[in-house]
Amino acid sequence: MCRSHCSYRGASGPNLLMLRCYGTAYGVCLLPLMITTSALTKIFGKLVAVDRLTMEIESGELFGFLGPNGAGKTTTINMLTGLIRPTSGVASICGYDVQTQSRQAKSITGLMPDTPQLYDTLTGRQFVRLIADLYEVPPKQSEERMERMLDMLDLRDAGGDLIKSYSYGMQKKILLVAVLVHAPRVLFLDEPTSGLDPKSARTVKEMLREQCDLGCTVFMTTHILEIAERVCDRIGIINKGRLVAVGSMNELRKQSAASNLSLEDIFLNLTEDVEHTRIGKE
Ligand SMILES: Nc1ncnc2c1ncn2[C@@H]1O[C@H](COP(=O)(O)OP(=O)(O)OP(=O)(O)O)[C@@H](O)[C@H]1O
Ligand SMILES: [Mg+2]
Repeated sequence: MCRSHCSYRGASGPNLLMLRCYGTAYGVCLLPLMITTSALTKIFGKLVAVDRLTMEIESGELFGFLGPNGAGKTTTINMLTGLIRPTSGVASICGYDVQTQSRQAKSITGLMPDTPQLYDTLTGRQFVRLIADLYEVPPKQSEERMERMLDMLDLRDAGGDLIKSYSYGMQKKILLVAVLVHAPRVLFLDEPTSGLDPKSARTVKEMLREQCDLGCTVFMTTHILEIAERVCDRIGIINKGRLVAVGSMNELRKQSAASNLSLEDIFLNLTEDVEHTRIGKE
């Protein structure tokens, strides 16, 4: 049976929500494409940081975006969340063009950047409430969601402390609570488990899977290949700005023509030392 796709909530309608049609044992299933990019490109000076990226991610999918340092992962997330403008190409979130309909796209998107930027003089709970208010989440709902997540992430006691007293891992965890409190339909996470202790990292993985089961689409970067291999439905690998592989673990193994390769083997084979494209270079 298809994953949570059929429970797609389909709230406020975008202009053109693209659907992918699948035949299943239960008939035909139409899956909304929640993230699409077409020839998405970002050039910094002469450096082509992201080079004609084209991909599609379905509703309810947990997508892992992998690549070596400097490959273009954060740049891609920044374009998809409207933090920077693409040089060329297009991208959409739930059918909303990220440039021309950025307000609508942002209203259904959550972002957990790699470096938490929080308000030091608020307590953890005050910060989460601020974000919930900005997204107009009814207080009863946001309080319930927040307390449940604070419990899951061992932050119940620290939730009343000022953020400036938080460790790096605690800052990342409170940021995750703030991002999830408004129940985004599409969630971008840049290195969500870096700096977390093993128990917290496991909880975060479980929380992300739970979000996908509820119909949220998750796009995350990670350098921890074991996490990608275990948790992600599909994986995209980017190297020097170019998408070099995309698919489920089984599909990646088939593309590598070897059934017993680990993700680490596949990753290392695909990300050998090639040059970033530079404009004006022969
Ligand atoms: N604002 C910027 N100005 C100039 N170059 C940039 C800028 N942001 C990123 N770059 C360059 O673009 C390339 C891609 O960077 P990006 O941050 O997207 O990599 P990444 O895949 O997220 O790497 P990491 O795994 O280290 O986080 C790098 O060569 C980087 O130096
Ligand atoms: Mg990065």
